[in-house]
Amino acid sequence: MPSSHLSLSPPLLLLFLVTPLTVTSKTFPGDTEALNAVKQGVDPGSIPPGSCLSTWDFAAADPCDAAYGPCFTCGLRCDARDAAGFLRVTELALDPAGYSGSLSPSVWSLPFLESLDFADNRLAGALPPPPTAGLPPRLRRLSLSHNAFSGEIPGFSDAPALEELFLDNNLLSGPIPPGLATLPALRRLELQMNNLTGGIPDLGPLQNLTFLDASDNALSGEFPSGKLPASVVEISLRSNRLEGEILGAAVAALPALQVMDLSHNGLWGAVPGAAFEHPSLEQLTLSYNQLESITRPGDGGLGSQLIALDLGHNRLGGFLPAFLGLMPRLSALSLEENRFTGMIPVQYAVRVVGAGGAVPFARLILSGNYLLGPVPSPMVGLKEGSAMGLDAMALAFGFGCEWMMTVVDGDGMVGGGCTAE
Ligand SMILES: *[C@@H]1O[C@H](CO)[C@@H](O)[C@H](O)[C@H]1NC(C)=O
Ligand SMILES: *[C@@H]1O[C@H](CO)[C@@H](O)[C@H](O)[C@H]1NC(C)=O
Repeated sequence: MPSSHLSLSPPLLLLFLVTPLTVTSKTFPGDTEALNAVKQGVDPGSIPPGSCLSTWDFAAADPCDAAYGPCFTCGLRCDARDAAGFLRVTELALDPAGYSGSLSPSVWSLPFLESLDFADNRLAGALPPPPTAGLPPRLRRLSLSHNAFSGEIPGFSDAPALEELFLDNNLLSGPIPPGLATLPALRRLELQMNNLTGGIPDLGPLQNLTFLDASDNALSGEFPSGKLPASVVEISLRSNRLEGEILGAAVAALPALQVMDLSHNGLWGAVPGAAFEHPSLEQLTLSYNQLESITRPGDGGLGSQLIALDLGHNRLGGFLPAFLGLMPRLSALSLEENRFTGMIPVQYAVRVVGAGGAVPFARLILSGNYLLGPVPSPMVGLKEGSAMGLDAMALAFGFGCEWMMTVVDGDGMVGGGCTAE
């Protein structure tokens, strides 16, 4: 391109920005003030020698100058220069030194801030609410994971660039604020391991959201049917208090979904057939619920992309669904601790031994059901090289007999047994 020699190539540009040459390459005084306030919020007794915050002495050294100069200030980047020539703080990333104390609201008074990461410390108290003007407009990443913040999540709205929000592993309570759904660029939302309550708000407007983890909270209500954007790829709502049915339409409305974990909730009804006809779903975990049945998909499972399916610890009854043995990519199937009766379908047996060209089952867990009848003959062949042998499985099982089997790694490690109740 003819004009390319006029612009600086990226490495040159970087060099230009980071070389403190003139008196004007000083930090904007307001930014220095905000940094001082952030340090003052931290309990001085929790700042160990050698840590990042121990280097913050802005009476002695200009923060952005020092970040690149001989007396290095750690935890800072100043990649921007404002119209007046001042260097501006663009990134704050503290080390996990065990800082305690609180997070100063002044942290929001860094208008050029793009990334804030104070994860893995012991900061406590409330998350400072953003000023009425909103969060810093360029903020793309905010991580306060693994601290001891408590109270409610403030209404983080008006952050047009925010792509990643990590508030997981704190002591936050109250609802997920509906205002989060007004963050247009949000791609990743992690709220797991808090004490959040209430229903899941309508996140439909988050058209770029791909990853949502709100597991290990106390969220209630139903699976958020119609309240998730079609962009979602991974969702975990494990260990909450969700109830109600998982609607097939809700699963079908998430065409990009690959991983879904709704285990350890109070969901009931049927596992929808849509989960087995989904064009991209690879991992579905619905264990530890109160699900009662499995709906056969219209195509008999032949189009399923599922690799791992865990339906253990539910109330599933009837015969083991043969179609699960026909899903071409399935490799791990867990159906333990349910109320299944009848025989092991030959379709499973074929997969355990890896016959017929289909992906073999690396893991099949059927223990804690009420299976009966002879073990399908292909599985009896597994006897060779097995840890416990399959002699016990050759028994003719009667009612009330709990049959247990675990195949791990498809390497023939098989345990079998029959316990009369
Ligand atoms: C959503 O993602 C696309 C593709 O990465 C991007 O072009 C677009 O700007 C994003 N939308 C918002 C509101 O950030
Ligand atoms: C979670 O919230 C409930 C109700 O507000 C409270 O009783 C409980 O102690 C909280 N648990 C934790 C671990 O903070």
